[in-house]
Amino acid sequence: MDTTVNEIAADVYRISTFHPEYGIQFNQFLLKDDEPFLMHTGFKKMFQTTFDALASIMEPSKLRWIGFSHFESDECGALNEWLSVAPRSEALCSVVGAVVMVNDFADRPARALADNETLSTGRHHLQFLATPHVPHGWDAGLFFDTVDRTLFCSDLFFHPGNPEPLAGAQVLERAQESIVQNLTGPLANDMPYTPHTGATLARLAALKPRTLAVMHGSSIEGDCAAAVAGLTRFIEATLGAHKDSR
Ligand SMILES: [Fe+2]
Ligand SMILES: [Fe+2]
Repeated sequence: MDTTVNEIAADVYRISTFHPEYGIQFNQFLLKDDEPFLMHTGFKKMFQTTFDALASIMEPSKLRWIGFSHFESDECGALNEWLSVAPRSEALCSVVGAVVMVNDFADRPARALADNETLSTGRHHLQFLATPHVPHGWDAGLFFDTVDRTLFCSDLFFHPGNPEPLAGAQVLERAQESIVQNLTGPLANDMPYTPHTGATLARLAALKPRTLAVMHGSSIEGDCAAAVAGLTRFIEATLGAHKDSR
């Protein structure tokens, strides 16, 4: 598997592995700071390639925080491997994530974050946003760097293939196509639409992110609030309750 590293915003390194069997990228993001933060661990089976890529940026044993959105193998499958190679590292996740899943699965307890709780990594400040069922999973949450306005948005804006590290508004179109494609097939209905979906997405747009760090596909720069608003309108029109004949 081919892993590439690109700095997509100041101190934010995108570690991207294209998985030919899945036909998609799995992107991890390293926020390099006094207390380095890794967003998603990647699959357990991808640990070595992710580790080697991260080692090209910093000393892996110095990793301090391991964040992820929700309990899935691509988000946190290699958590125990990272906890082992970085002795001071701690997982960061939602209260639901810690109580329901992570504290049983992980070799060390997670630090559970409340909605809106912030954490300083040095120059950067991470705000945790509890976003149940957005993009999916009861335990879902996202991280926002309030200093440089990078939103680590997990599976939002998912699109397949092996595209460029960073792109503009055209990513919205690709994400919309993927939402339609993901309505059918064995992995269909990945994105639930609940009474809270619209408000949760509106809250993300209101952050006015400068960069969206996307887990599968290109990250986004430019008018990210407009991109999130556009995605929200499309999700509402495509998955909203009035359309729900699935
Ligand atoms: Fe996911
Ligand atoms: Fe994912």
